[in-house]
Amino acid sequence: MKGKEKHSGSEISNQQSSDNRYHVPVLLNEALEGLNLKPDGVYVDCTFGGGGHSRLILSRLGTSGKLVAFDQDEDARKNLPDDQRLIFVQHNFRHLKRFLRLNGIAAVDGILADLGVSSHQLNEASRGFSTRFDAQLDMRMDQRQSLTAFDVVKNYSEEKLHKLFEQYGEVTNSKTLARTIVQIRDTISLKTTDAFKNALRGIVKGNPKKYYAQVFQALRIEVNDELGALKELLEQVTDVLKPGGRIAIITFHSLEDRLVKNFFRHGSSVEPEQNPFINTEAVNDLKIITKKPIGPSPEEIKQNPRSASAKLRIAEKKQT
Ligand SMILES: C[S@@+](CC[C@H](N)C(=O)[O-])C[C@H]1O[C@@H](n2cnc3c(N)ncnc32)[C@H](O)[C@@H]1O
Repeated sequence: MKGKEKHSGSEISNQQSSDNRYHVPVLLNEALEGLNLKPDGVYVDCTFGGGGHSRLILSRLGTSGKLVAFDQDEDARKNLPDDQRLIFVQHNFRHLKRFLRLNGIAAVDGILADLGVSSHQLNEASRGFSTRFDAQLDMRMDQRQSLTAFDVVKNYSEEKLHKLFEQYGEVTNSKTLARTIVQIRDTISLKTTDAFKNALRGIVKGNPKKYYAQVFQALRIEVNDELGALKELLEQVTDVLKPGGRIAIITFHSLEDRLVKNFFRHGSSVEPEQNPFINTEAVNDLKIITKKPIGPSPEEIKQNPRSASAKLRIAEKKQT
């Protein structure tokens, strides 16, 4: 499985937002339409970020509506509106069910997830997500977590590094990259983004900006276990949604999109060809609303180049 991301999260497209807002929401109206909001419903925004989607949801809810917003990044807190209908959970959305239960919520009318990193995370030099600034090789969305990108390059086996650069970054010479890291890491410090980039200078293939962006993307996906968290979220969706409730997921990466597509189709994030034990005839609790994913309009891409690779998929929990 390979995946490339152009977007939002990574800098692979080399497109940088000239907008200095925390984050420009992507596919905002399309995602909201897809959720089919009921004014008195209970909704979850798994990825609050700058709160663009959340604010629009709140604007469409009545006084008895409720929104639970997750974001594992402390920085997202500064965007919280003062609204009694909003509950903020500063945790990973992989714990969806647990935190809903803690807040006395058994089932919800809709779930939204807008995956990846925010523009703020990329533009905040100290977070170490960007190839553009020198900073600690960090890349944690949740700064309470101990694993950083430096830990990955310092401690992972050559084999593990090879796989992650190949799968999450589509780095063409991922094997050479992994071998080089393992050979130099005991003698050269890789603590900072610049030190890391400099140490790899001799093996860069093609356009250096693109190369480093792919390498950084792979590390970021690994550090934050982005695919693992998405799988765990998907596995909880049908337990948490009310019949008729909707899930809308915006992805920016082919690996994420494939997980979502397979889950909506088969009730499992594993492709049937990869797991012959999956019963593709099994009753799937989800009905697909978007046969093909919805992408941004040319106008949106023009206004916000980071939206270019966004894909929105929507499904609905079947009525029993
Ligand atoms: C693309 S931004 C969301 C932007 C938001 N929709 C808006 O309109 O501003 C993704 C956000 O989700 C958060 N995030 C990503 N994965 C997460 C996870 N597994 N659990 C909790 N938060 C996560 C990131 O910290 C980031 O702030």
